[in-house]
Amino acid sequence: MNLLFIGDIFASPGRRIVADHLEDIVATNSIDLVVANGENAAGGFGITPAIAEDLFALGIDVITTGNHVWDKREVYDYLGRQPRLIRPANYPKAPGGGVVTICSRSGIPCAVINLQGRTYMPPTDCPFRTADDILNRLDPAVKVRFVDFHAEVTSEKIAMGWYLDGRVSAVVGTHTHVPTADTRILPGGTAYQTDCGMTGPYRSVIGVETDLIIQRFLTSLPVRMESARAGAELHAVIIDVDEATGHARAVRRHAIDGD
Ligand SMILES: [Fe+2]
Ligand SMILES: [Fe+2]
Repeated sequence: MNLLFIGDIFASPGRRIVADHLEDIVATNSIDLVVANGENAAGGFGITPAIAEDLFALGIDVITTGNHVWDKREVYDYLGRQPRLIRPANYPKAPGGGVVTICSRSGIPCAVINLQGRTYMPPTDCPFRTADDILNRLDPAVKVRFVDFHAEVTSEKIAMGWYLDGRVSAVVGTHTHVPTADTRILPGGTAYQTDCGMTGPYRSVIGVETDLIIQRFLTSLPVRMESARAGAELHAVIIDVDEATGHARAVRRHAIDGD
C-alpha cells in the first residue's frame, strides 16, 4: 500500500496547494492513506477545528502536529473529540492523543504516531521511551505504522530512525520546514527521511515574511510574525509499505512547485 505524508502545511498558501493537488496525487500514485502535519495550518500558528475539518474534507485521513498545536486555544477541546487530529504523544499531560489506528481506503489497519524531540524544543517526556510504550501496547496485527517525529536537530531524528528501524514502517521528520535529501530504507525495513519539508510559501524564512526575520536577526528585538504569501511548494514523501510485514518496499520524495 502507498502512504502519502505531507510536511507542515503552512497558512493559506500551504492549504491552497494541497487543495489544488491532493486529489491528483492520490489518484496518480494509488495512495491508500494520507497523513499530513497541520501544526502551522492556521496562519502559520496552530490549527483551528474549522481548518482541520477543511483538511479532512480534502482527503487527509490523519493530521499530525507539533509544538505549534497549542497556539489556537479553540483546538484544545476539539483534540479530545477528533481522534484523527493527533499531537505529540510525549507531552506529559495534554488534551487529545498522540497515536491513532485507522483503516486505509482498502481496509488495511494503520497506526499513525506523533512524537516530538527534546533538543531545542519545549520540555516533554522522552520520545524514545514513549515510542516503546506505544509500540508495546499496539495490536501486533497493525503492521503499517507511520511515525511523524517533530524535532529540531538532525541527530535526534536520525537516532530515532535507527531506534525504531524494523519496528515501524516509516519515520519521517517535521518541524524544520526544510526538506532533507537523505530519503532511504534502513536495514530493518523502516523508511526514513530527516525532514519532509514545509508545504507552504518558500519565498520566506521557514514560512514567515523574510524582512521581519532579517530585522529580528539584525536587532534582536521581537517582531510581529506574519506568514509569507509567495513561492508555494508542496513537499511530501510517498512510502510503499508491504502490508503483510509492515516493512517499506520503497520511499520517495514528492514535491510540487505551485508558482
Ligand atoms: Fe512546522
Ligand atoms: Fe514545529
